[in-house]
Amino acid sequence: MSENLSTGKTYGGSSVGGGPTHQETVADVDVVKIAPVPAEQLVEETMPDLSVFDTLTVERAQAIIARYPQSRSALLPMLHLVQSVEGRVSQAGIHFCAAQLDLTPAEVSAVATFYTMYKRKTCGEHLVSVCTNTLCAVLGGDDIYKKLGEHLGSDGKKVGHNETAGEPGTPGSITLEHAECLAACDLGPVVQVNYEFYDNQTVDSAVALVDALRAGERPAPTRGAPLRDFRTAELELAGFFPDDAAEYAAGVDGPSAAVETLRGAQLANERGWVAPAMPDTVRLPSEKKPADSTDVAVTKK
Ligand code: FES
Repeated sequence: MSENLSTGKTYGGSSVGGGPTHQETVADVDVVKIAPVPAEQLVEETMPDLSVFDTLTVERAQAIIARYPQSRSALLPMLHLVQSVEGRVSQAGIHFCAAQLDLTPAEVSAVATFYTMYKRKTCGEHLVSVCTNTLCAVLGGDDIYKKLGEHLGSDGKKVGHNETAGEPGTPGSITLEHAECLAACDLGPVVQVNYEFYDNQTVDSAVALVDALRAGERPAPTRGAPLRDFRTAELELAGFFPDDAAEYAAGVDGPSAAVETLRGAQLANERGWVAPAMPDTVRLPSEKKPADSTDVAVTKK
């Protein structure tokens, strides 16, 4: 039951039927009368233990910051660095970034909770992302995601979005997520493991892929870099690569323009299709314009 602070009317239980509407309730609240929370009831945030971030991590953080004219611009790679240490962005990670970048924990939290690549729960050794956006979904992505959830589950319980099969962080553990378009629609349905692509998947090939991962194998991605574990991939996203750059580069399979990717351009070439030439001058309508304004003319240079 709640009380309207302005009128003293009560709602809830049997009084709801004849009581004021929700809109009336909101409009009637006199905020001045709302008592502040007593100091003893306020929850004070304690500083988490940051010792998990060792000297090397601090040096790496400083190296990231040095890349930017303003330190706050380093936040995104810094969050990847944090994930390379803990497999997630914890409260300690948020405070670490805030201290390094002279931001508030609230500012760091706002960013860390906005992007899906930053995980609040510790990830498995591998992060398996199944594209369930429109094109992949109709080509089989929905079936792949459903099957993997069942296949990775146990005791009749499926593994759901951002849930992990196995002990997070231990060998063979797998975190499953459904992802929005992974920018490989021509090769759908696609699955990523630690952001490396496995193109043209089927339910069976995806099951075989996660079984191999659980067995400690590292199946080669369809293209791109060799497969790493999640935390190593996060370190690379923060901008830190193996010392032997030549050896690392030798393992990268690129460029990776697939037959499917080039098919449209190839058909256009064969059939002589070309886009209309850009006219020398284009009149662009102006947005809501004042009575005396005119359209804008753009002239090709
Ligand atoms: S819809 Fe799956 S990659 Fe675009």
